[in-house]
Amino acid sequence: MQIISLHTEIECFDDSNDLQIAEQNLLQHASEAKDAAYAPYSRFLVGAALLLEDGTIVKGNNQENAAYPSGLCAERVAIFAAGANFPGKLIKKIAITAASMDFPSDHPVAPCGACRQTMLEYELNQKEPIILIMKGTTGKTYRSSSVGQLLPLFFHEDGLKSK
Ligand code: THU
Repeated sequence: MQIISLHTEIECFDDSNDLQIAEQNLLQHASEAKDAAYAPYSRFLVGAALLLEDGTIVKGNNQENAAYPSGLCAERVAIFAAGANFPGKLIKKIAITAASMDFPSDHPVAPCGACRQTMLEYELNQKEPIILIMKGTTGKTYRSSSVGQLLPLFFHEDGLKSK
């Protein structure tokens, strides 16, 4: 028997003003996207903003549905929009933020497992890390140097093929 240790590191900023200006700007876009979320059921608004290699910003927010599982998270709405409208363009960074309609969110919002898996496939395909920036309405900001940092043990497409 052997132990496999999985190690993850993320940067934590007390003040998002300590981020690069481009990252502060991306967080602002994520916040604007959040305000336009369609989340009448959870009342939890999430916004994501992607920065592409040519400076284009692609925004997404959670889109819910009365048939609950039919809705989709902000991160996947955003990254699928980038894949659909800007295929082949490198994704440099993704900022994510969230706020409840009912209470303040004072800690960073980390993407759910399905969104991590989805974003990771784009990162692996482009062979260049995507920087993730996560923040609540207030409080600390997390910055991860890649999606892979957040999903060290992931499902790989190799699993779909016979050796
Ligand atoms: N949600 C996101 O948009 N991103 C995540 O990573 C986790 C959760 C959304 C889904 C749903 O509309 C609401 O937040 C509550 O789960």
